[in-house]
Amino acid sequence: MQKIAVLTSGGDAPGMNACIRAIVLTAEHFGIQVIGYKHGYNGLLEQEYQVLKASNVSNIIQRGGTILRSARCLNFKSDVSAKLAAKNLNALGIEALLVIGGDGSFHGVCHLGAHWQGQVIGLPGTIDNDIFGTDATIGYFTAIETALESIDKVRDTADAFERIFLVEVMGRHAGFIGLSAALASASDHVLVPELCGDLNVELDNIVLRLNASMQKRGNSSFIIIVAENLWPGGVTNLAQVLHEKTNLECRPVILGHVQRGGSPVSQDRILATKLGAYAVEQAMAGESQIMVGEQNNKVVAYPIELTWQQRKPLDPYLVKIQQDFFDISKITQA
Ligand code: F6P
Repeated sequence: MQKIAVLTSGGDAPGMNACIRAIVLTAEHFGIQVIGYKHGYNGLLEQEYQVLKASNVSNIIQRGGTILRSARCLNFKSDVSAKLAAKNLNALGIEALLVIGGDGSFHGVCHLGAHWQGQVIGLPGTIDNDIFGTDATIGYFTAIETALESIDKVRDTADAFERIFLVEVMGRHAGFIGLSAALASASDHVLVPELCGDLNVELDNIVLRLNASMQKRGNSSFIIIVAENLWPGGVTNLAQVLHEKTNLECRPVILGHVQRGGSPVSQDRILATKLGAYAVEQAMAGESQIMVGEQNNKVVAYPIELTWQQRKPLDPYLVKIQQDFFDISKITQA
């Protein structure tokens, strides 16, 4: 194998740079040249690329974002785009394309694979952790830390005023950040897509917990973690609704894209490094249409089309602790 390419696509995630670095250093070790396409799949369509050498990836392991830039490329879904990408890859003599991204980007990997005879490999890079077949995705651990840092601060002012705070975290379709951040910040309640049914029932449940909390702890702070896109009108609306129902002071906080930035924590750097190196090895072994991931601390190659066909479940034991053991309205009196 002489030449491979890499791109980062979709929502950027802390650790993408660490992953690019691992790919470049591993490839150089084996005498393989690496092309870095810019701006996700757009770069592939427009032949916007740079040659990546060890010197291009020094001093980036600690940086958030991605040196290759990222984008969501909606028109990559068309056959015309995939054929153009295949032509461009062939023109540069590329044998394998490595894509670091989330499930949308993985659909792109498969789509390209159907139109190009080269090898395609996905590496899971998204703060959402919503990719089946890998225990964690690159960026997820840092996003939890970033959310936590803010929630801890919110707790200080919430305590001082004995107020209710509703903190909105990212994860449109998955509650991994929400559940982990709630548990690690000792938040009182969590609303994430996997655990939410009828919103009126959820609202009654929050009020029940709030009342139980006030009965047992007196006036105190009460923090609710809410996944984005879950409540119509978001936490701003929910704070209003809750205030009308309880007459208590409720404040919304939206963490937003802050969760995507920052220096990756060690777990993300190590995961990114492991998966980057392994992806190059898998490319050299002739593998294609796979995602490289990690299961029980071991690197694995997993069929890429299976990564979105099943919904990755939240850890049921963490759910039980948060929803059952720590539900103040369910605590039995000693
Ligand atoms: O990359 C995942 C993610 O950060 C989601 O958590 C969030 O819903 C989405 O991307 C936001 O996308 P955009 O940056 O395009 O608004």
